[in-house]
Amino acid sequence: MITAWKDAMNRFVTTAALLVLGTTAALAQSPAGDAEKGANVFKKCMACHAVGEGAKNKVGPELNGIIGRKMGSVEGFAYSDTLKEHNAKGDVWTAEVLSAYLENPKGYMPGVKMVFAGLPKESDRLNLEAYLGQFNADGTKK
Ligand code: HEC
Repeated sequence: MITAWKDAMNRFVTTAALLVLGTTAALAQSPAGDAEKGANVFKKCMACHAVGEGAKNKVGPELNGIIGRKMGSVEGFAYSDTLKEHNAKGDVWTAEVLSAYLENPKGYMPGVKMVFAGLPKESDRLNLEAYLGQFNADGTKK
């Protein structure tokens, strides 16, 4: 009698533990994007943008610490009036705004002088943000 109850309890505990493990594994995989895949997406930006230690402005400004960075704020880069206006208003590149911008740069922000068609796939944008999110404002990795 007691043995049967213990068996049942053991099975219950094991099942519960497996459920918790399964959920944790699923959660560990799902957040945002995959930085390694994002590095590959960033190749589309590299003609114009640099990121990492010692990154310089190219055709576009360097992108260190871009998520959470104030718009149009890189010293010495000649921004369009559009980005200068956003800077004056104190607007910030949050992950959501950056994703909406990258989906369709000129559609989202008319007047911006970035010649890039956009990244229609959400997975590309999430992976790219995971990649860019690794860099601190000084270009070191988090
Ligand atoms: C053909 C060149 C070109 C390509 C390709 C390009 N950009 Fe840009 N990008 C620019 C220019 C130029 C600006 C400045 C726009 C302005 O001043 O209106 C800019 C601005 C930006 C800004 C705003 C930066 C700030 O300091 O406010 C972000 C963010 C950005 N680009 C991200 C990207 C990402 C990510 C990609 C790749 C998916 C990309 N760009 C592809 C030229 C480019």
